[in-house]
Amino acid sequence: MSETAFSPSQLIRPNVVSLKPYTPIVPFDILSQELNRAPEDIIKLDANENPYGPSPRVAEVLAEAQYMHIYPDPESRNLRAALAEYTNLGAEYLLVGSGADELIDLIMRLFIDPGDKIVNCPPTFGMYAFDGDISAAEVIAIRRRPDFSIDVDAIETLFAESQSEPHPKLIFVTSPNNPDGSILSDSDLQRLLALPTVVVLDEAYVEFSSGSRIQWVEQHPNLIVLRTFSKWAGLAGLRVGYGAFPLDLIEQLWKIKQPYNVNLAGQLAAEVSLTDCHYLLDNVARLIEQREQFYPVLNAIEWLEPYPSQTNFILCQVKGRNASDVKQQLAEQGILVRYYNSPGLTDHIRISIGTPAQMARLAKVLQHL
Ligand SMILES: Cc1ncc(COP(=O)(O)O)c(C=O)c1O
Repeated sequence: MSETAFSPSQLIRPNVVSLKPYTPIVPFDILSQELNRAPEDIIKLDANENPYGPSPRVAEVLAEAQYMHIYPDPESRNLRAALAEYTNLGAEYLLVGSGADELIDLIMRLFIDPGDKIVNCPPTFGMYAFDGDISAAEVIAIRRRPDFSIDVDAIETLFAESQSEPHPKLIFVTSPNNPDGSILSDSDLQRLLALPTVVVLDEAYVEFSSGSRIQWVEQHPNLIVLRTFSKWAGLAGLRVGYGAFPLDLIEQLWKIKQPYNVNLAGQLAAEVSLTDCHYLLDNVARLIEQREQFYPVLNAIEWLEPYPSQTNFILCQVKGRNASDVKQQLAEQGILVRYYNSPGLTDHIRISIGTPAQMARLAKVLQHL
């Protein structure tokens, strides 16, 4: 082959070439230019971030941090010890990642060969299917019921069908679920755990709800639970998540994780956040109160139908209007909400819970839209 005929892109894995391009989020400063508004005039309720930000101790600890020139602890020992106390689970079950996102990718890399199956339960968080596609998994979508509950019967039927063998290796479930905020019941989780597969339970929003199942990991060799500091602790920008894994799985994960996956700032910030739990959980309580107060406000708007939520956001069906237009009209007023372009959600918007002042402003705008 002559040198000019050779195209290195032909060497790229075909499943990557066939992926749709990723739509990145627009950074806050660029957004402020695009909307022609000062950052403080933008009400950002589109990514379930924490409007109260991190504990004030985070800035102090980072300002005083030493050893920035030294690689961080690859085992996040101090953070895992603090997390062991926070979760009431031994540190040996815990692995820290650059956000829960990294751990989803790591789980794929642990289990998935091209063509292996995984079960995804949309509408849900997009990264399970995204990472599944990158790993060339066959992503089987078992859609949630209209009330967003998981169709456990359909998943059991899938596993009972001989043509589905070899069975899906992973099932991803989210509780509370993003985008609607509903909970997976204990009994449904038990039924999933009885299947010959690994259940990944994503508890990114669990601090806004009642009852984590993270301690079930001790009793269930096929349960992984993921958590994050992005939501309750306001550290989305520093990228710290963690997972609880059965011991024989975590042993293999340690082999494949990048040694320095969690940077020093993230480790220090997460550690100090755990020493300031009261402050952060007070903010969580405030957001829950705000959510409960805002739900009836949304319900009173005749063209919106909100879903009950156990998270820091509320999903609404938009009736008799175009949801995409609603999102656009709000953006023109400097208020950003999430609009979904995906099946089952094209007439929905999701609103993250902000400060009381932000929610009051949004209520006023919605009432006059
Ligand atoms: C259900 C769910 N899991 C995980 C994440 C990502 O968490 P992290 O910021 O720790 O990567 C999100 C973020 O929105 C989420 O909604």
